Amino acid sequence: MLLDIHNLHLSFAGDTPTRILHGIDLQVAPGEMVGLVGESGSGKSTTVRAALRLYGDEAEVTGSIRIEGTEMVGADAATLRRTRASSVALVQQDPRGALNPVRRIGDSLAERLVRVHGMRRREADRRILDLLAEVGLTQPARRMRQYPHELSGGMLQRVVIAAALSTDPKLILADEATSALDVTTQAEIVAIFQSQMRERALGMLLITHDLHLAGAICDRVYVLRSGEIVETLAGRNLFDAAEHPYTRALIDAAPALERRTAS
Ligand SMILES: Nc1ncnc2c1ncn2[C@@H]1O[C@H](COP(=O)(O)OP(=O)(O)OP(=O)(O)O)[C@@H](O)[C@H]1O
Ligand SMILES: [Mg+2]
Repeated sequence: MLLDIHNLHLSFAGDTPTRILHGIDLQVAPGEMVGLVGESGSGKSTTVRAALRLYGDEAEVTGSIRIEGTEMVGADAATLRRTRASSVALVQQDPRGALNPVRRIGDSLAERLVRVHGMRRREADRRILDLLAEVGLTQPARRMRQYPHELSGGMLQRVVIAAALSTDPKLILADEATSALDVTTQAEIVAIFQSQMRERALGMLLITHDLHLAGAICDRVYVLRSGEIVETLAGRNLFDAAEHPYTRALIDAAPALERRTAS
């Protein structure tokens, strides 16, 4: 199993600790596209951030989170560093926030490979160039010399996907990675994810509030409400088989496909 979360509880510390996650169970196998849906504030981002141990003392975490068999809860710094550097990559919604605005794109991406993976700079440059082309960026050599502000949102999202793939992860956690993009760009980015998954036998956890997208591309979809999984459905059955009133409410709130494509 690439990602195996079992009975995950999380509270944020404070005068009165806030309990956010209440016993999450969630799995991603190699080659699987798994969706995590739920309304704003239900705990989707908290789940993936907890999986990567991006919280410090402000969060109390219990349960088990295994990434390629490595237990993340209670892991030491070296184990965390190794797992983050090689097994798993996170793609977030805001690509501008993920890139250093005053560094050229090629420098940002290649230097990480040099620093974390001990690659020679020339080798790292070649790998980034290939990946930028693979994710569908035109003129990849030119893009490497450009700064983030010179690229559109869709282009930058391709850049951060290339950055995520550059360390050859087995598991990709995509947190609303396509939500800010127009429908056409979103479809292109999703197609890139799907082809990369096929080619590299990746597993992916796709966080989205778009139930049509989750139903169309996910093998399995977890429905999260207030820090609890209320229902798990096959993606192809999402709209027909959903039984939980919360899932039905999310489906009813999802804009109809006709309306989406018309806009
Ligand atoms: N660092 C933090 N300290 C305290 N509470 C937090 C912290 N981060 C998140 N929360 C709370 O945890 C809950 C879940 O937030 P989270 O960001 O995981 O939701 P989400 O499902 O990703 O929502 P969205 O769809 O809006 O991105 C929210 O009530 C939020 O206010
Ligand atoms: Mg979120």
